[in-house]
Amino acid sequence: MIYVAPSLLAADFSTLDTEIKKVEAAGAKYLHLDVMDGAFVPNITFGPELISSIRKCTNMIFDVHLMIKRPERYIDRFVKAGADIITVHYEACENPMSVIHLIHSYEMKAGVAISPNTPVEHLFPLLEHIDMALIMTVEPGFGGQSLIPSTVDKVSTLSKYAHERGIDIDIEVDGGINENNVGLLVSAGANVIVAGSAIFKAKKPRVVISAMKNGGIITS
Ligand code: DX5
Ligand code: ZN
Repeated sequence: MIYVAPSLLAADFSTLDTEIKKVEAAGAKYLHLDVMDGAFVPNITFGPELISSIRKCTNMIFDVHLMIKRPERYIDRFVKAGADIITVHYEACENPMSVIHLIHSYEMKAGVAISPNTPVEHLFPLLEHIDMALIMTVEPGFGGQSLIPSTVDKVSTLSKYAHERGIDIDIEVDGGINENNVGLLVSAGANVIVAGSAIFKAKKPRVVISAMKNGGIITS
């Protein structure tokens, strides 16, 4: 099953309620929420207060992508705000395994993300302990960038490694994804597709979301 997770970063922040309902009505089950701290990445977005406010607008699955240093300091805040899945960056944790355990202690799904320059092999020892692996297809920090082609091979390597060992895990990809390149990622083994600009800036988000669920093939 392929899930599409529109990234709220590309929405019009003056009308968040309308924007969220637009992508929900267009068929998205997940909402991807990019939290940036101005330290791990050179950009600042929003925090738990905003997530808690938009929790009232929708029952979509809140897929919270924490681009913050030492995220263990804030996990409880994001749990209380209404997250469903919390993903932390491998590069931002002193001890990724202990952060995974912390997230699971709240009965929450845990993901670990790697930036484009981090070898995918760093995720291997963690795979049996996490619900989702996030392969960044751009440098984290900003929406609207172009996908870095070399990241596609990391998805294949991870998917093959997990499959050969019978590890059942979601593989999420994030950054620069659109209807034209999503097929490459789905063929490589990704099943949770994050897209910001391609969905929120589209005239017909439903067509883009349906195409992404079909691995890039437009059916309507
Ligand atoms: C980048 C974020 C992405 C970003 C995706 O650091 O993690 O989720 O919002 O936006 P697009 O799809 O526009 O590249
Ligand atoms: Zn993201």
